[in-house]
Amino acid sequence: MYSRIAGTGSYLPEKVLTNFDLEKIVETTDEWIRTRTGIERRHVAAPDETTCDMAEHAARRAMESAGVGPEEIDLIVIGTTTPDQVFPNTGCLLQARLGIHGPPAIQIEAACSGFIYGLSIADRFIRTGGAKCALVIGADMLTRIVDWTDRTTCVLFADGAGAVILKPSDEAGIMSTHIHADGAYSNLLYVPTGVSKKHDPAVANQHCVIMKGSEVFKVAVNTLGRIVDETLEANHLDKSAIDWLVPHQANMRIIQATAKKLDMPMEKVIVTVQDQGNTSAASVPLALDTGVRDGRIKRGDLLLLEAFGGGFTWGSALIRY
Ligand code: UT7
Repeated sequence: MYSRIAGTGSYLPEKVLTNFDLEKIVETTDEWIRTRTGIERRHVAAPDETTCDMAEHAARRAMESAGVGPEEIDLIVIGTTTPDQVFPNTGCLLQARLGIHGPPAIQIEAACSGFIYGLSIADRFIRTGGAKCALVIGADMLTRIVDWTDRTTCVLFADGAGAVILKPSDEAGIMSTHIHADGAYSNLLYVPTGVSKKHDPAVANQHCVIMKGSEVFKVAVNTLGRIVDETLEANHLDKSAIDWLVPHQANMRIIQATAKKLDMPMEKVIVTVQDQGNTSAASVPLALDTGVRDGRIKRGDLLLLEAFGGGFTWGSALIRY
């Protein structure tokens, strides 16, 4: 028994912030942002919009594309690090919106790897008979937790949501998922405060993302290279078998390094970072939905999804679409 992606959906807030807009907010240039990151513009949520609002749009679109109604969904897994509230978890809030009553709603906090983590968990539920129709979402509103005076982070992060419906299938489907974490790197990318930790008055902007960018960059490139090898080896496949790389969209240079590792031309990589920035847990399902809806990704294609984020957390999924 395998799980298979029956439908995809995504959502981006209406407001677009360009690099030129950012030039008016912090000391930066369009040229610096484009050449160092590949980002040209990004979407920013409206003041009254929430992560659950974005997740709902993406979920409804995925359900529509899979031809699935709310009564069929028996598992919700949502990756987010920017939930609406401390609790109920965003999956519960979403459940109420969709009129789903009873099935488990799991929220995963794994930063940018949240969707891959969610996919891995839902896949295991389906393969072991624990679920028959799973809604898996990655949704984040990082613009709410960036310091808009810190040019090293505020030019990178953005908002959005992506979703898939997973159903059981005799044929793969999701061939394998691989998820990892190493908390030894927790000081390179983090938000200082949460709920239980005492506020440190010496730390400014305690609720905002802090990142040692160039150190994260180096670990990300190496780690993603390793997980590509791990994924191919687990499936006894050569890199030439992959039709599409669907990477986390943090930085064009990181994406290019992973594509190079796979000997893949950039035409075989779904790249959205120029238009969407880094949407954290939403970036992989947003890229997947983009590739599916514009007709590049077709049924039967072999996809390699990968992500890397704060924790550090990282993961991959090999999928026969
Ligand atoms: O999604 C989770 C995982 N996150 C990532 O994977 C992000 C990984 N890191 C990166 O993508 C890159 O490291 C960054 C895009 C964040 C930064 O690029 P970089 O090439 O590593 O630059 P840097 O941090 O080494 O900074 C180079 C220079 C510095 O100036 P000095 O010290 O050389 O004078 C920075 O102050 O660029 C400066 N700088 C900026 N200049 C203009 C940093 N941010 C900006 C900015 N505009 N926005």
